[in-house]
Amino acid sequence: MNIYAHRGYSAKYPENTLAAFQAAANLPIDGVEFDVHLTKDGQVVVIHDESINRTSNGVGYVKDMTLQELREFDYGSWFSEEFVGLEIPTLEEVLNVYRGTDLRVNIELKSDIFAYAGIEELVLQVVEALGMMDQVVISSFDHEAVARIARLSPNVENAALFVNAILDVANYQEKLPAKALHVSLPSAFRGPVREAIEKGSVVRVWTVNEVEHAALLVDTGVNAIFTDEPEKMLAFLRQNSVPVEG
Ligand code: G3P
Ligand code: MG
Repeated sequence: MNIYAHRGYSAKYPENTLAAFQAAANLPIDGVEFDVHLTKDGQVVVIHDESINRTSNGVGYVKDMTLQELREFDYGSWFSEEFVGLEIPTLEEVLNVYRGTDLRVNIELKSDIFAYAGIEELVLQVVEALGMMDQVVISSFDHEAVARIARLSPNVENAALFVNAILDVANYQEKLPAKALHVSLPSAFRGPVREAIEKGSVVRVWTVNEVEHAALLVDTGVNAIFTDEPEKMLAFLRQNSVPVEG
């Protein structure tokens, strides 16, 4: 079972910052996940929420500010004084942390609340320019975006994100089409997801921070877990002789 650091190493570092991504890159894990939004001036930036209110010392929506305006705020001090001065990273800056490594990079398009017209093309352009098309997985709760990725770039790995299990999810996956399913922890144990795994779907599970949950998932055949606690999960899976690097 593979381990992906969720929003970088987000238990110990401010989520979705270069500090969290560098920490994750130093671990013998399989991948990393992060979230992207579009600025007012069309830059793809890495942050979880639509607004900067929770994870910076500023206020406002990403879509209403230019990159330069977003860079006026601090994205580390909300987490701890130790991280004062961290900036909001661009997609390109984060990809550069992983370029040349063997970690898979999951870019989650946060276009499910604000549509961010054209975000798929912009993300693909940045990934292509860095020669990382084979290294990325592009996912979203916005399944129109997942389908657009498939149309724009049929070979790149795309994934449909789910909060709840839906019936006949394997058929739905084929229709989109999506190459993988990223499901919530409770959904991973439900019938439709179990059936999809039996039919050969690649399933990754978010967000798994308790070793008891990881232990239950080992036997389900899921491909990977997203976790805020990659070192804890690594230690647990190693102790239990579960292969962790896939
Ligand atoms: O991509 C998996 C997971 O990150 C989805 O939920 O809210 O943490 O982005 P969220
Ligand atoms: Mg995410």
